[in-house]
Amino acid sequence: MIRRFPDGFLWGASCSAHQTEGAWDADGKGLSVQDTRPRDTHDICDFTVAVDFYHHYREDIALLAEMGAKVFRFSIAWTRILPEGTGAVNEAGLAHYDDVVNACLEHGVEPMITLYHFDLPQALEDRGGWDSRETVDAFENYARIVFERYGDRVQRWLTINEPNIMLLVDKKILGRAIPLERKYQQFHHLMIAEKLAIKACHELVPGGQIGPVPNISIVYPASAKPKDFRASLYFNAIRQWAYLDFSCKGIYNPLLLDYLAKKGVSIEVTDADRELMAAHFPDFIAMNYYTSVTVEYPEDASNMADGISDQQSEDIMDAGFYKGFTNPNLEKTQFAWTIDPQGMLTTLLAIEDRYAMPIVITENGLGAYIELTPEGTIKDDYRIDYYRKHLTMCARAIESGVQLVGYSPWSAIDLVSVHEGMRKRYGFIFVDRDEADEKQLARYPKKSFHWYQRVIADNAVDDGIESKEGVA
Ligand code: BG6
Repeated sequence: MIRRFPDGFLWGASCSAHQTEGAWDADGKGLSVQDTRPRDTHDICDFTVAVDFYHHYREDIALLAEMGAKVFRFSIAWTRILPEGTGAVNEAGLAHYDDVVNACLEHGVEPMITLYHFDLPQALEDRGGWDSRETVDAFENYARIVFERYGDRVQRWLTINEPNIMLLVDKKILGRAIPLERKYQQFHHLMIAEKLAIKACHELVPGGQIGPVPNISIVYPASAKPKDFRASLYFNAIRQWAYLDFSCKGIYNPLLLDYLAKKGVSIEVTDADRELMAAHFPDFIAMNYYTSVTVEYPEDASNMADGISDQQSEDIMDAGFYKGFTNPNLEKTQFAWTIDPQGMLTTLLAIEDRYAMPIVITENGLGAYIELTPEGTIKDDYRIDYYRKHLTMCARAIESGVQLVGYSPWSAIDLVSVHEGMRKRYGFIFVDRDEADEKQLARYPKKSFHWYQRVIADNAVDDGIESKEGVA
């Protein structure tokens, strides 16, 4: 059955600065926490070269245009603009993103920019990072600089990529654990920084639109046991609704408050923060979805490692609240992430139900091992299958009234996976390098590139299945 998408649907592809750009110290760039991140394993590559998007952006954007992308989501590296996070502006960094934005526009591809994707300037980290108010002010200053510079050409902005995953998966993303009592002060600072960016965007970008970009994955209970259902309610609140409630409703989620009270964690919130929270709201919700999460009530919470990871969370275990559980109903990728297209539909319905706002999916994808064939082709049928199933659920969500206006999956080109290096490939475009050898970094469109090109041209996806109505 052919599933058609609304006219003007925003087809795109996404990536982030530190996972693609490389050129870690070029043209005055400062160090970010991704450049200095402590690593458990050194058999995966770091971000010093990545896929050298810094020097290949023209070629890559031309390929994305050939694929038919209407929008390209990328992030700006704060440390290219302000090498120390604050202070002197680096004109070479600003000029670089002028070129990237202009290259997009020359190809008829709309740039959609994420302000911040896990890469805090190290100079700010040294002075307390997100523990400190100074970082909030520095973020606002940085955001205002980029809005002023690119606001004449860039209309759609994203604030802070996955603050929820950054805090929940601190060890994997930042290379160190943030103690619970500091985690939620950081939450507050990140969310206030976002509010300041929303305010600044609306002041400085004529007609500009801005959205939060959390990772939202519906949390299922492991069973119909009352305690398991309650566990899912709490993890849904802590993992995601707390973030969107702050962004879109200007409130602290009540279950998060209960959780914090029971944990004995308090947060410093000023009157000015409360005013700001309730006064500035996003224009749309951007969200990243890879798979769903399942939890049970932890009858025995003595061992943290008993909590199964939801792939993007550390082992999930919180005494009295929830514990991760392997969902036996879902298949898994080569990297043991579950695959749950139905979960995407349910997640979209839940967001519509709670917030009733336009939604853009800004990440969705499958990481896999793959080798270039001697003929220079890459047959990633498993990725096509993943996208086909998820796009089918997007179409069904739209039919059900979800205001889904765009789909920009992960990733535009192969990049360095946050957790698993270069071997875990997500892109529509293969980049010929491996963990240790940068080779020539040549680009090769994959089979999925051509498949997605067809989907975009048709504004439709063939779900490959018979039509069945209802909620199944
Ligand atoms: C998201 C991040 O959490 O997941 C991306 O926004 C990341 O930066 C993606 O690449 C996939 O995770 P991983 O660990 O496979 O790179």
